[in-house]
Amino acid sequence: MRVGILTVSDKGSQGQRQDLSGKVIEGLVQKALKADSLEYAIVPDEIDLISAKLIEFIDDKKCALVLTTGGTGLGARDVTPEATQKVIEKLVPGIPEAIRQSTREKTSRAMLSRAICGIRKKSLILNLPGSPKAVEECLSVVLDVIPHALDVLEKGSLECGRDKP
Ligand code: MTE
Repeated sequence: MRVGILTVSDKGSQGQRQDLSGKVIEGLVQKALKADSLEYAIVPDEIDLISAKLIEFIDDKKCALVLTTGGTGLGARDVTPEATQKVIEKLVPGIPEAIRQSTREKTSRAMLSRAICGIRKKSLILNLPGSPKAVEECLSVVLDVIPHALDVLEKGSLECGRDKP
């Protein structure tokens, strides 16, 4: 499985900040999802650049899963959810709902992420917040459901009710 990691950060893209969050995602994905191939990019908080990279990761690089980090908050330049919305065909609201609900126990600021999740073709795009701590907290909530989600997308349909955990 190929996974795309897209870090969205003005400072990171200019080399003014190290991308620790991208590294956290890489570690979790390799350990929990056994990803055999990774695509990585860092872009500034520009809607068209984010959308273009999401399209490239899925249409050209054939990533089954794309995880973004950053740009989900309330700041004027935070546009990752809008860039994601532009390129997806369907929303998967349950995933960010679960993340916000579950991580609210750790910080009430979980409510401030506008992250979305959606489907483009047979691939899943999930927004994560920008800090390494938030990435770890949020991704950990949904790692166990992602393989099944990707399986359903790949195969078109599955008997979801059988043998569920
Ligand atoms: N979610 C969790 N689980 N842990 C966090 O520390 N930080 C919040 C929120 N979600 C946080 C979190 C904060 S402070 C902000 S501003 C928003 O995510 C958006 O972050 P972003 O703009 O870096 O994407």
